[in-house]
Amino acid sequence: MRVSRGFRSLIGSLKGVADKWRVSVTVAPTAFAVLLFTCLSSPGSGAEFQTLKGHGGPVMDISVSPTNGLVATASFDNSVGVWSGRTPRWLEGHEAAVKVVQFVDGTRIVSAGDDNDLILWDLETGTKTRLQGHTAKVTGLAVSPDRQLIASASWDTRIGLWPLSGGEPVFLEGHTAGVNKIAFSRDGKWLFSASVDGSIKLWELGENVEKRVIDRNGFGINVMVLGGDKAGSAAWVAYGSQDGVTRIVDLATDERLHDFALERRPILAMALSPDGSRLATGDGHGFITVIDTKSWSIEKDFKAALKGPIWALAFSKDGQVLHAGGIENIVYSWPVADLASYDPMAQETPQFLRKPEDMSNGERQFARKCSICHALTIDGGRKAGPTLYNVFGRKAGTLEGYPYSETLAGSDIIWSEETIDQLFLDGPDHFIPGSKMPMQRITGSEDRDDLIDFLKTATNAETTGGGTQ
Ligand code: HEC
Repeated sequence: MRVSRGFRSLIGSLKGVADKWRVSVTVAPTAFAVLLFTCLSSPGSGAEFQTLKGHGGPVMDISVSPTNGLVATASFDNSVGVWSGRTPRWLEGHEAAVKVVQFVDGTRIVSAGDDNDLILWDLETGTKTRLQGHTAKVTGLAVSPDRQLIASASWDTRIGLWPLSGGEPVFLEGHTAGVNKIAFSRDGKWLFSASVDGSIKLWELGENVEKRVIDRNGFGINVMVLGGDKAGSAAWVAYGSQDGVTRIVDLATDERLHDFALERRPILAMALSPDGSRLATGDGHGFITVIDTKSWSIEKDFKAALKGPIWALAFSKDGQVLHAGGIENIVYSWPVADLASYDPMAQETPQFLRKPEDMSNGERQFARKCSICHALTIDGGRKAGPTLYNVFGRKAGTLEGYPYSETLAGSDIIWSEETIDQLFLDGPDHFIPGSKMPMQRITGSEDRDDLIDFLKTATNAETTGGGTQ
């Protein structure tokens, strides 16, 4: 039961009505549920280096189940992967990039991202419940310690509180820009939020009111974790900012305890080991830094990715392995004990980062504007969009096995030089309103011509030797 984007933006504008929207859909449970209970080995036990391969786009977030060690990944390819060992199960339902994923317990997962929706997945029964109400992308999720409440952080500047038993969500307002991350105190009475507006705020749950600003930074705050071992609530908050600072603030006094600034902005990923002894950060330059939280000294600082940033970090359940995601479609899992002794991530330049001078204008247009979501080969892999192999002459929405929006599946468009030109002259939002394709216009007619010339060769079975359709 897919709700079209047009319909959703309509109800999105009727605030209050949208807040009540809650759709439940049952999908066929797969053999994975059986697998889940017979094989609870986590990719991490034994602390060996390994990679998790299967996503068709960069990996934006990683969550490890605290109960059974399963790994969940959120990707730009619109899907969530759940990994039992190195075997993935794919959760499909988001209509845009998935930015954040979180285990609720051993069998339930919540995910969210650029389509503004949360989806609650039950791995055992195969049900997915869509939680709608945010009006901009969701970049943070947290589950209360008693597992009664999911909190969501959104660029609509609000924090959503969603009772797991069903019922109406509550939205907390007070930030003046997007909220990136949230975290519950250990006793579940307080909520912490980190925002693009540069503040860390404390909220009292139950009353659902803002209590105070814990810290204010000149630049936006991207990531945050709570740590320390004071009974009931956390003793410190660590945050990472757009200007490259990792800062530790005492929660009793709001005093800034430590600053780590390695001139590598921005900090994009942060994870605390399960025993709280290690804090890991990932940054825009591809470095991973591991900080010892007893001595507050840097234990390791190494270039983990040759290309691009580190977007996702998570420790395994036993704390022995650090999982990382970045510009590649692959999760790297390193034994924490000798992190820097393995080959780094992203040694090959993804197409969209290749040097412009190495490409014709048409290929450059494709590399920059399309390649992250579209393949050109018969077996397109798991990407957000369908493969464009043999797209000329194809009726829109007809590639078998790809989950098109109803809009595209029901459309009469035949893809040709003219229709693809029109698609990017008008932008998909005008040319086929309601499709899952992101808003994008290519205003230069020469750029569109060059792109189409490139596509005509690169998508053609005969010229590429791609074989039969
Ligand atoms: C962020 C991801 C993304 C980017 C970037 C993107 N697309 Fe798409 N594209 C999609 C999705 C998702 C669909 C399927 C839309 C639907 O089902 O409504 C799609 C569908 C299409 C289709 C229709 C295919 C069919 O089988 O009917 C064409 C043609 C297309 N895209 C071309 C392009 C070109 C050319 C570019 C670059 C200029 C581009 N796209 C950039 C995600 C993307």
